[in-house]
Amino acid sequence: MDKAKNVLICGASSGIGLETAKVFLSNGYTVYSTSRRKPPIDSDKLIHYTSDFYNNDSIAGSCRQILEDSRGEISIVINCVGDILHEETIKDFTGTQLLNTFQINFFSSFVLSQHLFDIIANNKGCFAFVSSVAKDKVYPLISDYCAAKASLSNFIKSLAIELAPHGARAVAVSPAVVATPLFEKSNFTKEQAESFHKLNRIGNPEEIADLLYYLTSSKGKWITGTDYLIDGGMLL
Ligand SMILES: NC(=O)c1ccc[n+]([C@@H]2O[C@H](COP(=O)([O-])OP(=O)(O)OC[C@H]3O[C@@H](n4cnc5c(N)ncnc54)[C@H](OP(=O)(O)O)[C@@H]3O)[C@@H](O)[C@H]2O)c1
Repeated sequence: MDKAKNVLICGASSGIGLETAKVFLSNGYTVYSTSRRKPPIDSDKLIHYTSDFYNNDSIAGSCRQILEDSRGEISIVINCVGDILHEETIKDFTGTQLLNTFQINFFSSFVLSQHLFDIIANNKGCFAFVSSVAKDKVYPLISDYCAAKASLSNFIKSLAIELAPHGARAVAVSPAVVATPLFEKSNFTKEQAESFHKLNRIGNPEEIADLLYYLTSSKGKWITGTDYLIDGGMLL
């Protein structure tokens, strides 16, 4: 199922995606990466494509180029792209704000799946998406992000059903607070965030990367349509 050892990681320039790229590189994979910035990794086994996931043509263009350059030998696609863009009450969100949040946290994953469905099906591969505890536990002022992540977590079930006849899979992971640049721009101190978790600490991006590696590699080959909570006990 993964003879070529080629993985596409979207959003590998920072945080969870960056650590995921490092885990795959250390396991002998060639990593194809997309994001607006280049990942800070010095390796000739990392091949980067500049892509803006606000723009569906940009997603399509990078998928086309990666399929050509890898000769269709990608069997794992991991999308880590996501962002919390605004904090507003429901009444105050504008239509543009809502569309941007859904584009970056959900629609881009849908579009990516459309472009790469055939290759993952043919290679009996696996898609993985990074959702969030926010799909279940809602927070004030980010109702847009919570709803978009709930959509993403729901979508992987439909994707898993359509992939299953081909022997291919789709999974998601849903972390609580993880120490990345996304968390650093939040209004919470580290101590406040730690107190939200029963294990009294926030997660490391390496921990999410290891779970993504397990789920998408052959070790996870009987897992599909599942969204894995990795939350330090937040939802207990
Ligand atoms: N950190 C947390 O506490 C936490 C908790 C639960 C879920 N998550 C989810 O985990 C995922 C990774 O987040 P992170 O914490 O690792 O955040 P991060 O360090 O900010 O990384 C986000 C990644 O997404 C990419 N990205 C953002 N906007 C993009 C765009 N328009 N086009 C292309 N790429 C774009 C960024 O690349 P460029 O800026 O270079 O384009 C970057 O590589 C997200 O889906 C997030 O919602 C995070």
